[in-house]
Amino acid sequence: MGPGPSDVPPSVLKAMGQSLVGHLDPSFVGMMEEIKAMLRQVFLTKNEMTFPISGTGSAGMEFCFANLIEPGDEVVIGVNGVFGTRMADVAARCGAEVVKVEAEWGRIIEPAQITEALNGRKPKVVAIVHAETSTGALTPLEEISKIVHDAGALLLVDSVTSLGGCPVRVDDWGIDAIYSGTQKCLSCPPGLAPVSLSDRAMKVIAHRASGVQSWYLDVNLLANYWGEGARVYHHTAPISMNYALHESLRLVLEEGMGNRWSRHEANHVRLRKGLAELGLGIASQEGHQLWQLNAVTVPEGVDEAGVRKSLLDDHGIEIGPGLGPLAGKVWRIGLMGYSSSEKNVDRVLAALKSLL
Ligand SMILES: Cc1ncc(COP(=O)(O)O)c(C=O)c1O
Repeated sequence: MGPGPSDVPPSVLKAMGQSLVGHLDPSFVGMMEEIKAMLRQVFLTKNEMTFPISGTGSAGMEFCFANLIEPGDEVVIGVNGVFGTRMADVAARCGAEVVKVEAEWGRIIEPAQITEALNGRKPKVVAIVHAETSTGALTPLEEISKIVHDAGALLLVDSVTSLGGCPVRVDDWGIDAIYSGTQKCLSCPPGLAPVSLSDRAMKVIAHRASGVQSWYLDVNLLANYWGEGARVYHHTAPISMNYALHESLRLVLEEGMGNRWSRHEANHVRLRKGLAELGLGIASQEGHQLWQLNAVTVPEGVDEAGVRKSLLDDHGIEIGPGLGPLAGKVWRIGLMGYSSSEKNVDRVLAALKSLL
């Protein structure tokens, strides 16, 4: 019940244990097509270029920046936690001129801040972390998307923690580049990064003056393997991880996206209510608190690390610590994917009650 990885359903683990086939085996190629189709349903997009990058969420982040950015391009990045900070680092390494739009950790990036940052600027990309796992804040994207497109920029979104746990509507919200990870609300082990690029983003990539600096993450090369035509070997696909992703996406769609979001919301509400009865509150901005990651304020005089150690040693429950300015001040309780259950909520509440 930490900030990820979440628990994995038994059938996903079982899928990973199946015999290997080659990465160009017809049965694997058929599975790749099903993975792409299911990812489009989960991202709510018709984007052709929707597939999993080999690597964790951060590989998805590098993929988006490496393909969209050329040295000297201006990029506006919302920074309100660890992962906005990481995006700024990755973009700078791609040669971007980074403009940071900062908010206090725990608060969202406000649309007015983006409007202000775009005043007099013409950035190529505006990048936002949808669900900041380090703080538990969910930044709404619809209004920001309009502001970004009115300024002629592309919208790049981190959905590592949001995808599968709350609405992420790639086409409706006009998202141009998005990446996620398998180990949070999709409840699959860490190792793949689902990504999707809009036609608008693909046009920008097609008109690059320079080649994509990363060979491994170049979408033009990856498209020859993940695209529709004759499959050309690029790198050996992580076969077992793709088996796992296939099964986890099948489970997401079997539950239904709406049902899954409602389950995450209901378990968050149940946790919040139980925490309030213990005199505990949530640290992130009211009205923008994540359902899948709860940053709980540590009460005065309580040993933050000691409680986490006892939860693990005596109750078999792992939760996460605060990071950066929130270190020592919050516990991070994940209710992600398969781990988001009434049973888990009641168990962590009972354990916290006995410890406090
Ligand atoms: C919001 C967010 N973005 C990016 C990442 C990086 O993903 P990974 O650790 O899988 O590389 C994480 C991981 O926790 C995350 O929570």
